[in-house]
Amino acid sequence: MPKLHWWQEGVIYQIYPLSFQDSNGDGQGDLPGITSRLDYLGWLGVDAIWLSPVYPSPMADFGYDVSNYTDINPVFGTLADLDRLIAEAHRRNLRLLLDWVPNHTSNQHPWFVESRKSRDNPKRSWYIWRDGSPDRRPNNWLSVFGGSAWEWDEQTGQYYYHAFLKEQPDLNWRNPEVQQAMLDAITFWLERGVDGFRIDVIWHLIKDSVFRDNPANPHYTPDLSPYLSLLTTYSADRPEVHDVIKRIREVVDTYDERVLLGEIYLPVERAVEYYGPEGSGLHLPFNFQLIQLPWESAAVSRAIENYERALPAYGWPNWVLDNHDKPRIASRVGPRQARVAATLLLTLRGTPTIYYGEELGMSNTPITAEQVRDTREIRQPGRGRDPVRTPMQWSAGRRHAGFTSGTPWLPVNPNYPALNVDSECSEPGSMLALYRRLIQLRRSEPALTRGSFRGFAAPAGVIAYVREAEGKKLLIALNLTPRTQSVPLHDVTGRVVLSTGLNQENQRVATTLLLEADEGVIVEV
Ligand code: GLC
Repeated sequence: MPKLHWWQEGVIYQIYPLSFQDSNGDGQGDLPGITSRLDYLGWLGVDAIWLSPVYPSPMADFGYDVSNYTDINPVFGTLADLDRLIAEAHRRNLRLLLDWVPNHTSNQHPWFVESRKSRDNPKRSWYIWRDGSPDRRPNNWLSVFGGSAWEWDEQTGQYYYHAFLKEQPDLNWRNPEVQQAMLDAITFWLERGVDGFRIDVIWHLIKDSVFRDNPANPHYTPDLSPYLSLLTTYSADRPEVHDVIKRIREVVDTYDERVLLGEIYLPVERAVEYYGPEGSGLHLPFNFQLIQLPWESAAVSRAIENYERALPAYGWPNWVLDNHDKPRIASRVGPRQARVAATLLLTLRGTPTIYYGEELGMSNTPITAEQVRDTREIRQPGRGRDPVRTPMQWSAGRRHAGFTSGTPWLPVNPNYPALNVDSECSEPGSMLALYRRLIQLRRSEPALTRGSFRGFAAPAGVIAYVREAEGKKLLIALNLTPRTQSVPLHDVTGRVVLSTGLNQENQRVATTLLLEADEGVIVEV
């Protein structure tokens, strides 16, 4: 097998910058704060950091509404702070990825301010303007955050399209000037030494050229977000998006060893298209199945096998449990199963991404009505994302868990006295210790990075598979139930190298592998 790229072998760690470490007491995390915590990330053993957006922004969607693509929001620091962060990360062999938000800008971006001035403004065609009247919208497209995706502009008598908030107008990526301006922005960061980008909502970039109505979703049920009442047949995932991604990739490929990750919420068969023909697209189109599926062995096993089957020969897999938009894994499956999930994430074939605090077992934080910051919560109660964006829990002994000396922008989870870096780093049974061991094991066992993947027969409730490279085999068996289970080993024998329950490590196993309730094990066979 050829040598792997760093982003194939490595582990990526997502930081939500507002919540990682505050350095100036304003209650909001910042770049110098992140720099001061790089030694922790080196100790944990991750290979790359991806920062959610740090560009100037009115923060209507907490940085996903960019008002300048080539500068740093003063809340986070300065360009010099970013340069220092890149240099300090590189000195520790850590790569740094930025979040790039190409689908839409802030409504306060100078491009949009120009665009909305008049119908004949040179920037008019940089956004998506359509005719209509106050009581007749251009079509039926919906906003992900609720309501119509069309906003009436009184002054110029047209609608503009926004897939997200009305403060986030969509750019017109069919316009070559827009493409060039946005490619110039990524060149700016590549020149500064950034190692790649996570690309926000990449499958939204190109819309139907004649703006046909989206069809109704025949599988819609009222418990789902209203946005899902329509299929997105014409508003997203259009075939021409792949031409645009190819152009983005060409720019990135003029630099060494950079990587493109893309946010894509689509069925697996569609998502793998984003590797592009012969791998000319994204390096890693995000695979969110573990975020979306019920935590149930049959569903997860099937998803793993379908994904392995759907991947093109040139497509490198990837896996994610958590991000800044979805409930945390420890809250979804409970703390014991979160250990099993971590073992799955870090032993599957493909690049894992960890969301800050996942390695501590952080759970969703209760947010009172007065504490709500995410406007999505106000528009769509229960769908807000504040509970998963609360401050990183560094220490039991310090105010606000060591995150800030001021008042944190979101409350610290009251579970911080038990779940925090300082306490967990010295407890062998902690979640942090488990993540660190799994990352170290991945690093030392080629079977876990470059190895093949093969399912292993197991009873209902258990997921089992074998990873193999260079003549070495590891059997991973994960009990997703609160009952003991036995996995017939037939003629396989081996030694347990890791157990999430820590109870049978180093033991030899033969004939049958016994799993305690909620236990995952890795066996060298
Ligand atoms: C992506 C981001 C999310 C943001 C949305 C609009 O889904 O992950 O946080 O609200 O895009 O930019």
